[in-house]
Amino acid sequence: MRIIICENYEEMSEKAAEFVKSQIMLKPASVIGLPTGSTPIGMYDKLSDLDIDFSEVTTFNLDEYYPIKKDNNQSYYYFMNKNLYSRVNLKKENVFIPSGEADDAQKECENYEKLIKERGGLDLQVLGIGQNGHIGFNEPSDSLDAFTHITSLTENTIDANSRFFEKREDVPTKALTMGIATIMKAKKILLLASGNEKKAIVSALLKNKIDTEIPATVLSMHSDVTLICDRAAYIGL
Ligand code: PGA
Repeated sequence: MRIIICENYEEMSEKAAEFVKSQIMLKPASVIGLPTGSTPIGMYDKLSDLDIDFSEVTTFNLDEYYPIKKDNNQSYYYFMNKNLYSRVNLKKENVFIPSGEADDAQKECENYEKLIKERGGLDLQVLGIGQNGHIGFNEPSDSLDAFTHITSLTENTIDANSRFFEKREDVPTKALTMGIATIMKAKKILLLASGNEKKAIVSALLKNKIDTEIPATVLSMHSDVTLICDRAAYIGL
């Protein structure tokens, strides 16, 4: 794992945006997996400011709450529209998020997995990391699902995400998420971590021991992972 330590959130966001920009310059028709959450907001701001041609790029988001309406201001569809889609020249037909409105969640997941394959697979997957070590909504468990699936959120994740909702009871308890194999099949992975509250999990990750109770530890089996984090999230090896 390559590790890039930045002074602060601003620099982490800048470096992450430059990383994505390089990917698109090298391959204009890149297929890129994208995260939501507070960590990547700065990266999306920078990406929107840089002069990047997204016209051939395809994006697949990691996950979405289930069920949730697209126009709910806490849906990841809403988030992506606000933070990226409305600000760059991505084509509507080239952006994908598992649908929180699907009647049949199972079918939606199978279809999502198929779509990623049809588009040639992920060239780059950008990830945040949960305080509990989740990537996407692959939550700590004694086993991890390989492909896109419906999952129940842990109490820890519901607590962490309740800051975005009016009250804790409003946080959906389920989500649709890419699986561990979906993520690991990406050619390149960019992992972002910022702030003190990520220090413990980044430190666990860097021990290079695989533990399904810390899903992000599977990344140590991937041959091309770059971690960009700020000093607050980095405790050292
Ligand atoms: P955060 O979430 O960026 O809001 O900390 C990260 C995650 O849960 O993957």
